[in-house]
Amino acid sequence: MPGLRVPFLDLSRQYAELRDELVSSATRVLDSGRYILGPENEAFSAEFARMHGAPFCAGVASGTDALKLSLEAAGVGPGDEVALPALTFVATATVVSALGARPRFVDVEPDSLTMSPEDLERRITPRVKAVIPVHLYGLPARLDAILRIARSKGLAVVEDCAQSHGAVFAGKPVGSHGDFGAFSFYPTKNIGACGDAGAITAVDEARFAAVMLLRDCGRRPGARYDHIVASNHSRLDELQAALLRVKLPHLEEWTRQRRSAAARYTRGLQGLPVSLPPADPENGRHVYHQYVLQTPERDALAKSLEKRGVGSGIYYPMPLHRLEAYRNLGYTEGDFPEAERAAKEVLSLPMFSELRDDEIEAVIESVRAHFS
Ligand SMILES: Cc1ncc(COP(=O)(O)O)c(C=O)c1O
Repeated sequence: MPGLRVPFLDLSRQYAELRDELVSSATRVLDSGRYILGPENEAFSAEFARMHGAPFCAGVASGTDALKLSLEAAGVGPGDEVALPALTFVATATVVSALGARPRFVDVEPDSLTMSPEDLERRITPRVKAVIPVHLYGLPARLDAILRIARSKGLAVVEDCAQSHGAVFAGKPVGSHGDFGAFSFYPTKNIGACGDAGAITAVDEARFAAVMLLRDCGRRPGARYDHIVASNHSRLDELQAALLRVKLPHLEEWTRQRRSAAARYTRGLQGLPVSLPPADPENGRHVYHQYVLQTPERDALAKSLEKRGVGSGIYYPMPLHRLEAYRNLGYTEGDFPEAERAAKEVLSLPMFSELRDDEIEAVIESVRAHFS
């Protein structure tokens, strides 16, 4: 019995609102003739750093590169291991492999689905050099406990902030707790570019200097063809930086809208046999990149939503240790029980800042109808 159709995500609504500003910013860059490492990148990086409470920020080509350059700047290389959650987007692990290091997976907590600090402690080996807490779905990982463990063992901490722009833990924005924060501006993120783009926030000047070298062919600062480390480049281009500058002043309002949609879902879905997303951590803020239910009836629920014209998504249907790409690590089913269970039970409801109240109500009604 289909009612109002609700898309899982509709980027065209935001584009329609910002179209004129985006076009004029793009035109400004095209007319300028300056396309790489110019004033737009610099201004965006400064604005983004300020917003995330970090003294330093470098614009790079993607969230994947943000993670990879951060690990590289922290000294991760062949023979090292990096601890990361078994439930995340694959890039959190592939960057480790790309550096010749080995991902050391860690199970997630059943409610938050972020890295379990207790499991982290159990799984650390003497080869682990860094840890990547992922603020999955916009919810900060338990950074206090993770940082305590990492500091006691001398590990670098790279926060994967790809899904958590503007999220807060213990009164401070994510990306300013660890050594580095790696952000993605993939178009579907809470703030998205019109292509691939990313950024690295850093708190330590020397470590930031290492990132700046690595993102630009190891070029000596201020020099042209004097390269002091062997590195590729990965730079946020001027066009994407200018488009992101149009969007950045809206991020706080978009976050408010996501949180208000989430609160409406949470009110409307009480009493059903599903786990709802955890509330804000104390003195913190969930930014709801995704609004994720957990239910053993996940596949049936997704089907009934589809029948009613309601979009949904699964992030992620396979924990990383079960991917063919990581078969070589020798993990088996049962090694990360919570990540394995979550991969079978998570379902994301429509969530974007332009989602309308009548659409949220239609989603709630459709979920309730499935269980009635
Ligand atoms: C948790 C997580 N890490 C890393 C990435 C990689 O970001 P990008 O797609 O910008 O390379 C993403 C985005 O897809 C992500 O969701």
